[in-house]
Amino acid sequence: MINLLFQKKILQGIPNELPEVKPYDSSINHAPKRKDVLTVEEKKLALKNALRYFKPEYHSVLAPEFAKELKDFGRIYMYRFKPDYKIFARPINEFPCQTKQAAAIMHMYFNNLDPKVAQHPNELITYGGNGAVFQNWAQFLLTMQYLATMTDQQTLVINSGHPQGLFPSHPDAPRLVIANGMVIPNHSSLDDYEKFNSLGVSQYGQMTAGSAMYIGPQGIVHGTTITLLNAGRKIGGSSSSLSGKLYLSSGLGGMSGAQAKASVIAGAVGLIAEINPKVLVKRHSQGWLDEIHTDLEKLLKRLIEAKKNKEAVSLGYQGNIVDLWEFLADKDITIEVASDQTSLHNPYSGGYYPAGLTFDQANEMMTQDPEKFQEIIHQSLKRQVAAINKMTAKGTYFFDYGNAFLLQAGKAGADIFTKSGKFKYPSYVEDIMGPICFDYGFGPFRWVCTSAKSEDLALTDKLAEEVLKEMAKKAEPEIKQQIQDNLKWIIEAKKNNLVVGSQARILYSNCQGRIKIAKAFNEAIRRQKLSAPVVIGRDHHDVSGTDSPYRETANIYDGSMFTADMAIQNVIGDSFRGATWVSIHNGGGVGWGEVINGGFGLVLDGSKSADQKLESMINFDVNNGIARRSWAGNKGAQYAIEKAMSEDSRLIVTKANSAKPELINQALNKN
Ligand SMILES: NC(=O)c1ccc[n+]([C@@H]2O[C@H](COP(=O)([O-])OP(=O)(O)OC[C@H]3O[C@@H](n4cnc5c(N)ncnc54)[C@H](O)[C@@H]3O)[C@@H](O)[C@H]2O)c1
Repeated sequence: MINLLFQKKILQGIPNELPEVKPYDSSINHAPKRKDVLTVEEKKLALKNALRYFKPEYHSVLAPEFAKELKDFGRIYMYRFKPDYKIFARPINEFPCQTKQAAAIMHMYFNNLDPKVAQHPNELITYGGNGAVFQNWAQFLLTMQYLATMTDQQTLVINSGHPQGLFPSHPDAPRLVIANGMVIPNHSSLDDYEKFNSLGVSQYGQMTAGSAMYIGPQGIVHGTTITLLNAGRKIGGSSSSLSGKLYLSSGLGGMSGAQAKASVIAGAVGLIAEINPKVLVKRHSQGWLDEIHTDLEKLLKRLIEAKKNKEAVSLGYQGNIVDLWEFLADKDITIEVASDQTSLHNPYSGGYYPAGLTFDQANEMMTQDPEKFQEIIHQSLKRQVAAINKMTAKGTYFFDYGNAFLLQAGKAGADIFTKSGKFKYPSYVEDIMGPICFDYGFGPFRWVCTSAKSEDLALTDKLAEEVLKEMAKKAEPEIKQQIQDNLKWIIEAKKNNLVVGSQARILYSNCQGRIKIAKAFNEAIRRQKLSAPVVIGRDHHDVSGTDSPYRETANIYDGSMFTADMAIQNVIGDSFRGATWVSIHNGGGVGWGEVINGGFGLVLDGSKSADQKLESMINFDVNNGIARRSWAGNKGAQYAIEKAMSEDSRLIVTKANSAKPELINQALNKN
């Protein structure tokens, strides 16, 4: 049934009458107070900027209110304007629209801000501590109004959450183009971010938060499962399970929350430390975390028992990861695999809670005495690395999980470098994701059933399974294991109860697989077997969309790892090949200024034109990255691009010749 009141509210955008002030809801998780970095003049500018969204007659009421928000929270969120209706992935038909493409985008935005899904929903933060969808509620309201009224002759432009407006375009153009946090390169320090974000002119969109493509922690469960399984294979474990082995890490937040679930799927004993009690309770109540422990001695007993019995179980430690590492480093217990997923991409503003301070003390000190807080974080990282070094000396396989752990530990002065100045530990991309997945084009393909019906999701799972079964029959040895891992994943996906929020699924797939699966969905929509459009997309943490020297492009060794041409080419290329929306971001994953990443969403509506768009766009979206990786000399990518060229004569990629090292040495010695 169409909810007319809801539709009316969406269509009115920023309300004509001022809504009531809302009481501060302390039952939900809020973003920590952000640093007060603005001068008095800059504070005036921040207020002036915020008031631009409202009629002058309301300025006298709103100015002191926003000034207080800036003082109390370090940002102006415009809490009063948070709508009263429930925000969740509503079925596409509930959204008022002129084009279904725009309604599908609204479905995705609503999912990103669902309190069940988002980390700090009232501050419009989806994950990663500061991964913002919008900077304030006025931007949300205006964007929904634009999407609800736009036609397929228009494109909406959004800059760091601010909807700049609708611009004339054409039906084959993207309906939405997003840029997040793009700044002039010399102004991309962490202090610059704090300032621009406080001024209300820029935001950190993470990867899938600011692109409306977040699908809850499921998105990362699959990648984490694959990473853990392959980590197990690296240390000589069984090829299909980590049974009897311990995986130790930290973080049960937006994405790190996937670690507990993935450990169980991979058959391991997962032990995850989390400092924030509310986060532990949330994951436990969702069924993603099996047990919560607060007593280290009791926890140790449970660990030993679980390992002995080869239980697939996730144990949460409510406390600081540093205390846990130090405790275990002194005990006689083997930790086979370990990592860290605190939000070290954002080290000094709530991403990493240092040992020696309680959660509340840390939240206070980070704004009251940022210099001292920074010093304590550095001490904490040094202690953590010392305990890790102790355990790796006993055989633990430790890897950086793309959260800038090595980078920040290095900056803190921890004992993390080898004699030759390299990091002691690999990143998971260098060791696992890069050579096993990305170089072959396997990446986090995903889809969302906008009907919001679980039956639709079940059918898409079945269709994807059929495609993979066919592919597995003919798969070459280089990619067979990957296809088999993914087949197992999709067969068990429903049983593993992974949906939080929208009816979505993730499936690592290569170019061929992504195209075949998307075509099968489009066909099913055309035949009305699926009841509504399906959105396809991906995490930005992928083959082509992201230039990130400490993560996605960590296994590029031709000196180009600090360039970002690939990510820019990707978003431009996707935009004119059929994407319904594209986005480009500064700073997802490992931190502001450290990465450029982009992504897309494409609405499948059963049309022939959707078939053409998906084929053309996915081909470029994957092969752009494989071509670059192949040019850098990565063997898997050289294999994959040859294969892609043999399948489409229009694809002609420049190939790299390799020079003999002796010849190069000789040439340089002679000079
Ligand atoms: N490799 C990947 O695939 C991958 C995927 C996702 C995220 N990441 C990175 O991992 C990090 C975490 O992402 P997220 O979305 O879960 O962030 P998040 O902020 O939602 O979660 C991090 C959690 O760590 C907890 N924490 C912080 N310091 C702690 C400490 N000392 N001890 C115990 N718990 C502590 C926080 O309370 C928080 O809940 C980010 O830097 C992200 O970019 C990597």
